[in-house]
Amino acid sequence: MALTAVKGFNDILPEESGRWQHIEQTARRVFELNGFGEIRVPVLEKTELFSRSIGDGTDIVEKEMYTFTDKGENNVTLRPEGTAGVMRAFIEHKLYALDPVSKLYYMGPMFRYERPQKGRYRQFHQIGAEITGVNDPLADAQLLNMLTAFFREIGLDEPTLQINSLGCPECRPAYRSTLRSFLEARIDQLCDDCKRRFVSNPLRTLDCKAQGCIEATAGAPSVLDHLCSGCDSHFSSVRRYLDLSGTPYSINARMVRGLDYYTRTTFEMVTGLLGSQSAVAAGGRYDGLISQLGGPSIPGIGFAMGLERIALLLGAKEFSSQPDLFIATMGAGERDVAFCLMDGLLKSGVRVEMDYEGKSLKSQMRRADKLNARYSVVIGENEVASGRAAFKRMADGLQIDAALTVDAIAPLVRKTV
Ligand code: HAM
Repeated sequence: MALTAVKGFNDILPEESGRWQHIEQTARRVFELNGFGEIRVPVLEKTELFSRSIGDGTDIVEKEMYTFTDKGENNVTLRPEGTAGVMRAFIEHKLYALDPVSKLYYMGPMFRYERPQKGRYRQFHQIGAEITGVNDPLADAQLLNMLTAFFREIGLDEPTLQINSLGCPECRPAYRSTLRSFLEARIDQLCDDCKRRFVSNPLRTLDCKAQGCIEATAGAPSVLDHLCSGCDSHFSSVRRYLDLSGTPYSINARMVRGLDYYTRTTFEMVTGLLGSQSAVAAGGRYDGLISQLGGPSIPGIGFAMGLERIALLLGAKEFSSQPDLFIATMGAGERDVAFCLMDGLLKSGVRVEMDYEGKSLKSQMRRADKLNARYSVVIGENEVASGRAAFKRMADGLQIDAALTVDAIAPLVRKTV
C-alpha cells in the first residue's frame, strides 16, 4: 500500500509555500518594527507544562494533546500551542532578569488531535507574539494595533477585531456564580459538553455553537457588567487607546477563550469566510500564568495566528517568485555560454533558469512561459559570435538588445520594485 501522510498532517507544496513565506516575512517585518525579537522553543515539552497552564479541564488538555511516554519513561507532549513553552523558557532562562519587559515572537508547528476539516488540522502552524512585564493597557493596545497592522500589510481587510474582558481572580468567581444561577433553570437545554461545563467552567457555555446552548444563554448576564473596578478601568483604557489609534474593533462580551490562563483583555480576529473556523488569530492577557509556572509575578499578554487560516484567506493570490530571466539555447554548442552566463548572473543575485535537457527551442519557450519568467533570451551561433542578444520582456514582447555580460544583463532583467 502506498504510504500517505498521517490524517490531519499536511504537506506544504512549493506552489503554496510562496504564500506561507509572504505571511511569515510580513509578520517578521511588522513584529520587529514593534520591537519583538524571535524566540525558538522545542515542539516537545513535559506534559505537566500544558496541564498547569492551559488547564486540566480544557478541551485541549482533556482530549486533544499528542501525549506519550518516551523511551526514558518521561511523560511528554507535542506542544498544542506556543505560549506555555515560551513562558517556560522565559522563566528557565531568567529572561526577566535582563529586562522584565520582553517582547517575543515565534512561529512553528503546533499539534492538536481535533477532527480535521477546512481550516482545522492536527498539525497546524502558529505565528505568535507575547509581551511580558507590562500591566498598563498601553501594551494591550500596542499588541492589538500590531495585529491589525499585520492584516493590513498582508492585504486583508477581513478579519475583524473583537475584544472582551474576562476579569481577574478577584471578580470572575462572582460572575461565574451569577452565570451559574442564571443557567440553573435552563440546564436541560444545554448540550452534554455544556452540562459538564456548567460545573467546571460555565463561561464556556457562552460560546458554544449548539443551538440549545445559544438559546439557553440568550440574555445571560454579561461579564462586562461584573468586572471589578480595576478590570473595568483597565478595559476602558484599552478601548480608549484603540480609539486614539483609530483601530477598528467591536466588543463581544460572549467571547470566552478555550484556555484557562486568561485574565482581563481577550480578543479574536474573526472571519466570516471560513465557516466554523472563524478565529484567524486570538489571544489575551495572562497576568497569573508566569507565577503559576513557578516564575516571578509578572503579567503577560499575547496572541497567536493560524497560518493555514491566513493562507486560506489569501486565496489563490500569486506569491511564488518568478525567474528574472530564462535562457534558451539554439543548440548544444551554446550551452556552455548559457551555463556560464547563468552562473555569473546567479552569483550577482539575478534569478535565472535555463533548459537542462537539450530540448527543442519551442519546448524551452513553453517552459519559460510556465515558469512565468519576466525576460527570455535565445542564444544561438550569431549571439555567441557577436556577444549580443535580444532580451524579450515576456509581458509585452518588447525586445531589448544587450551585451551577453553579467554587467549588462543584471540591471536590465532584475526586478526593481
Ligand atoms: P488558540 O485560540 O487556541 O490560542 O489558537 C490561536 C489560533 O491558532 C486560532 O485562532 C487559529 O487561527 C489557530 N488554530 C488553533 N487550532 C487550530 C487547528 N486545529 N488548525 C488550524 N489552526 C488552528 C492559543 O493557542 C494561544 N496560545 C494564543 C495566545 C498567545 N494567547 C496568548 N498568547
